[in-house]
Amino acid sequence: MPARPKPNTASTSAPAPVSTWSSRHLLGLQELPAAEISALLGQAAAYRDLATSNTRRSTLLKGQMVVTMFVESSTRTKVSFNLAARRLGADTLDFAAGSSSLSKGETLVDTVKNIEAMGIDILVVRHPASGAPHLLVRQVKSVVVNAGDGAHEHPTQGLLDTFTILRARGKVAGLKVGIVGDILHSRVARSNIWALLKLGAEVWVCGPATLIPDGIRDLGVKVSHDLDALLPSLDVVNMLRIQHERIKGPPLFPSIHEYARLFGLNAARVRSAKTSLLVMHPGPLNRGVEITPEVADGPRSAILEQVANGLAVRMAVLHRAAGFPPGATSA
Ligand code: CP
Repeated sequence: MPARPKPNTASTSAPAPVSTWSSRHLLGLQELPAAEISALLGQAAAYRDLATSNTRRSTLLKGQMVVTMFVESSTRTKVSFNLAARRLGADTLDFAAGSSSLSKGETLVDTVKNIEAMGIDILVVRHPASGAPHLLVRQVKSVVVNAGDGAHEHPTQGLLDTFTILRARGKVAGLKVGIVGDILHSRVARSNIWALLKLGAEVWVCGPATLIPDGIRDLGVKVSHDLDALLPSLDVVNMLRIQHERIKGPPLFPSIHEYARLFGLNAARVRSAKTSLLVMHPGPLNRGVEITPEVADGPRSAILEQVANGLAVRMAVLHRAAGFPPGATSA
């Protein structure tokens, strides 16, 4: 397990603003200083109205080619990056990995180098292998944005979840946030943990012992195996799905029914929580397993707000990837 993140030293004060970005690539939130996470959230706030407008667009990225290369399924992240790039005036290409020469044995690096030869600027990549974007950064010329690598990180999801909390509650520092479910296989959990701890939240992970990795406490989070005991004290709960596609070997819990009974968020459980509880889920939902439809679609749910916020966050990330300084929203 990697080293514990440096928390924001004064949990009630914002990190000092940044005037330049540390890098144009975005590989993860582990390596991103708190000040830069805050700057990206501020940039997203500047783009929030434009993000959901069908009639207005910026020309900031005019002349830039953004390629989305998803070697793993996606609905939200792929659509969101494509729309974000277009709202900033970029040209976009959605590389169809399934029908590409990757299936004939071409390596990821060779594939990207061939696309680069046709002129691209920013590569947004999702890959089932942890570390794939890190490999690309060393081998290709494009700016690389990680859209989810294996069970490692999903930095834009971590940013958009943090942005959603910030918009809903006006702060992140001091809030008690629970991340519930399959922590072991979750890149979303990891990116949330890095961002939330760096911005001063108290972070709990909750799930069956078999779905909580050894050493997670070393990151600075607290661990619970009892959702009923934890939930009443939480300000925010982020429910995760079981990542069946990453579970190899024998089952990690006896049955989905028992998992839902012990760790699913349902109306009865929500009644035991604070009335201000913010309910989040990164999607895709497995309705009736980790969350019931009445909670997912209920008044405390921020799930579709997360999706809308994701567009603004990805505009901020593309703004950074294109090399524009924090703050500017036009060229
Ligand atoms: N949250 C998320 O990454 O969703 P997609 O897999 O649909 O992109």
